[in-house]
Amino acid sequence: MDKIVIHGGNSLSGEVEVSGAKNAALPLLFATLLAPGKHRLCNVPALRDIETAAKLLGIVGADVQRDGDCFEITADDIRSDEAPYDLVRTMRASVLVLGPLLARVGHARVSLPGGCAIGARPINLHLKGLEALGATIDLDHGYVEARAEKLRGAHIAFDMPTVGGTENLMIAACLAEGTTVLDNAAREPEVIDLANALIGMGAKITGAGTDSIVIEGVDSLQPMDYRVMADRIEAGTYMVAAAMTRGDVLVKGVEASALETFLSKLREAGAVIEEKSDGIRVIGPETIRSVNIKTQPHPGFPTDMQAQFMALMALGDGTSVISETVFENRFMHVCELQRLGADIVIDGHVATVRGVNGLCGAPVMATDLRASASLVIAGLASENTTEVSRIYHLDRGYEKLEEKLQRLGAAIERQPA
Ligand code: EPZ
Repeated sequence: MDKIVIHGGNSLSGEVEVSGAKNAALPLLFATLLAPGKHRLCNVPALRDIETAAKLLGIVGADVQRDGDCFEITADDIRSDEAPYDLVRTMRASVLVLGPLLARVGHARVSLPGGCAIGARPINLHLKGLEALGATIDLDHGYVEARAEKLRGAHIAFDMPTVGGTENLMIAACLAEGTTVLDNAAREPEVIDLANALIGMGAKITGAGTDSIVIEGVDSLQPMDYRVMADRIEAGTYMVAAAMTRGDVLVKGVEASALETFLSKLREAGAVIEEKSDGIRVIGPETIRSVNIKTQPHPGFPTDMQAQFMALMALGDGTSVISETVFENRFMHVCELQRLGADIVIDGHVATVRGVNGLCGAPVMATDLRASASLVIAGLASENTTEVSRIYHLDRGYEKLEEKLQRLGAAIERQPA
């Protein structure tokens, strides 16, 4: 297993190009199972999770070809309806095959994803919604057995906004008979990206991006030809790195509208944010101001930016109260940040971060994707050397991270552990 070695203290400067969004590309890849013919999806990031999704598409019978940053996918005949445990446990987003397989062939056998570092992450709301569409759902030896002669439109109200649940059901409803309404739907930009691609395939969807999405079922769909949106979480990660190192970085390819709450908090922390025609420029402050954040479903502060922002607050000029309301165990980065000298106390869902004058490099361990990013950012701003181990977590969601940071002036390299 590799590790990342960072010699901290350099200010980041220059330009960085954001890759395609992992959390948009994954549902888009699985949505190709809805229609025969050759689909083309571009701006797909080169990530471990994308490879896993491509493998799963192959297992169910799709032909998947990579052409640069594009995927060409032909799913003319579905040979298997099974998403096996050994694959689903490595990437829980595999449960997003449920909706397309049920809609396309009327059955699916998908392993329950099991637990995850950041929380239990059940899929009960996905399953409840699919039952509302007429599917029978049985649980057998850790697998979901789903069947439906023909899905029928329904009015579904989610107990809480769920990104994956909204995506799974929006996909399934495209080929259902009649109208489906998804209330209390997730409003994330990645849901809008998926809806736009489905509409391009001939689906009839309105309201994506609001908390009520209406899908008029159609008999069949055409292959997609679509370009994945930019990864707003990757972009936010580089913005925090610039803010934390007194840097001056233009993060290219991302729309400010996808990160409004996060950007307003970054401004409150003292960073200068300039919206440009080709991206967002972030100038780090001399003094980082401690601010409070509370993660919430979009358009609130993104839970996927909480760990990175906590690293910034470790060098704040006061005390920052960070509430994580989306996942029940998303503070795994705290113990590792403390090893770098951060002063953080956890009380349930709330972490209190007292800013310190400086951090000191040390060996630390990645535990999940965004926690890993938080440790890299903290290492960039720490004196001496930080070694981040178990960086396979990083490779799931950040394309060429160390190369992009090197180009911004960071002293960072990947080494065999
Ligand atoms: C998506 O996960 C993202 N992953 C996550 O990003 C992100 O953190 C999350 O949305 C929230 O924004 C992808 O898009 C591939 P949820 P998802 O369903 O869909 C509970 C990253 O770092 N819930 O919106 O799994 C759940 O436990 C990853 O890129 C149920 O209780 O998230 C959580 O507490 C991490 N029952 C809350 O809802 C359900 O059936 C939100 O989860 C579904 C969810």
